[in-house]
Amino acid sequence: MTLFAAGRAPRYIVFGRGQRRALGAYGALLGRRALICTDERLAGDPALAEAVDGLRAAGLAVAVFDRTAPEVPLDAIAAGVEAGRRFAPDLVVGIGGGSCLDMAKTTALVLAHGGSPRDYYGEFKVPGPTLPVVAVPTTAGTGSEATPAALVTDSERPLKVVIASPHLVPQVALCDPELTDTCPAGLTAIAGADALTHAIEAFTAAPREAGPGLTHEHVFLGKNALSDGYALQAIAHLHEALPRAVENPGDADARDHVMYGALLAGLAFGTAGTAAAHAIQYPVGALTHTAHGAGVACLLPYVMEFNRPACEPALAAIAAAMGLGGEGPGERAGRAIDAVAQLFARIGIPPDLRALGLAEDRLDWTAEQSMGAARLVKNNPRPLDVPAMRTIIGAAYAGDRPALRQAWTAA
Ligand SMILES: NC(=O)c1ccc[n+]([C@@H]2O[C@H](COP(=O)([O-])OP(=O)(O)OC[C@H]3O[C@@H](n4cnc5c(N)ncnc54)[C@H](O)[C@@H]3O)[C@@H](O)[C@H]2O)c1
Ligand SMILES: [Fe+2]
Repeated sequence: MTLFAAGRAPRYIVFGRGQRRALGAYGALLGRRALICTDERLAGDPALAEAVDGLRAAGLAVAVFDRTAPEVPLDAIAAGVEAGRRFAPDLVVGIGGGSCLDMAKTTALVLAHGGSPRDYYGEFKVPGPTLPVVAVPTTAGTGSEATPAALVTDSERPLKVVIASPHLVPQVALCDPELTDTCPAGLTAIAGADALTHAIEAFTAAPREAGPGLTHEHVFLGKNALSDGYALQAIAHLHEALPRAVENPGDADARDHVMYGALLAGLAFGTAGTAAAHAIQYPVGALTHTAHGAGVACLLPYVMEFNRPACEPALAAIAAAMGLGGEGPGERAGRAIDAVAQLFARIGIPPDLRALGLAEDRLDWTAEQSMGAARLVKNNPRPLDVPAMRTIIGAAYAGDRPALRQAWTAA
């Protein structure tokens, strides 16, 4: 492999306890009229009043849209856009979990370019810059504050839909881990497990032929040197701190490291992309109505086992980032997979798809639908087709990781 790197990131990244109070000054750099997208939970929280006051003190006019719905359905976006049109903002601030950040990104898109989110589904469909977005996450997981993607729910589609464009990367990622202090243990676990899955899927993603067109032909362009650096750092922070943050919600140091890991993972997968665990979660989530993070994390150890013959050195490097030893790359790779499975078991992630609630008679459908997200399928280090997906899903349903190992050692 020749050395190749590509980066895409917010213009400003700020991380640290108390940094949310920098919002007013960042808002003033970008505009005079701020539309805040948030949800009903935060609407009644002093943190939101503080954000509004901070922007107003910096001289901005502020309007608040607080009807973001989880998973970002199109009608919620339409309501946000309508509120925006009445107010005529010149910047959008997303404050909340990944749903509020994706709501802010899509609202800023439609306010700038008109039409409906449907006009922009897929990759590179956004014709130019959106209204500038300031992303202020209150969960530590999605990394949406740093990524070129927004995920929305369209009632006419069976699975969630992505809008992916470099124009969707927020201008400012303002990460204050104090905002995550209120997350209950279950949410901390699910969001943090999503972040670890982002980092591992980005680090094990297939590298591409690095011609001059690569960064313009793919929003998610595979493993590269910059995303590798972010991903390994993310893995180290998350592996060490996530169990502490789940088991002791008052551990501020653990929360800091989990949120920092989630940001780094967002920077990694926002360029490299994710792979099979995310591809399979789309239909699994649609069938089981379980959280995105629970699904991808449930699947990840099985995906790592399936992918192992194609990315053993990368898995061995992941083990090193986790501080694990081992004789050679083979042993270290196995330890990395075991460590991920153990960590997820410890924080309460369902161990298999049966426990997640998937019905056995839907495994074939799940395998077929998993092939639908081409950007994720092409990113997987080991080639995927429907039978390969069915093999992963069958083992993940039965909780049988050794079966995957036997399948590839026998092949
Ligand atoms: N754009 C991206 O790159 C990207 C990546 C991964 C996931 N996502 C999307 O992000 C969404 C999931 O985001 P999420 O996991 O952050 O959950 P979420 O935003 O859907 O929020 C889940 C719940 O947690 C609550 N919550 C948020 N912050 C809280 C806090 N500090 N204390 C207490 N409760 C809090 C919310 O009010 C909500 O009820 C999904 O729609 C997923 O598809 C986007
Ligand atoms: Fe994810």
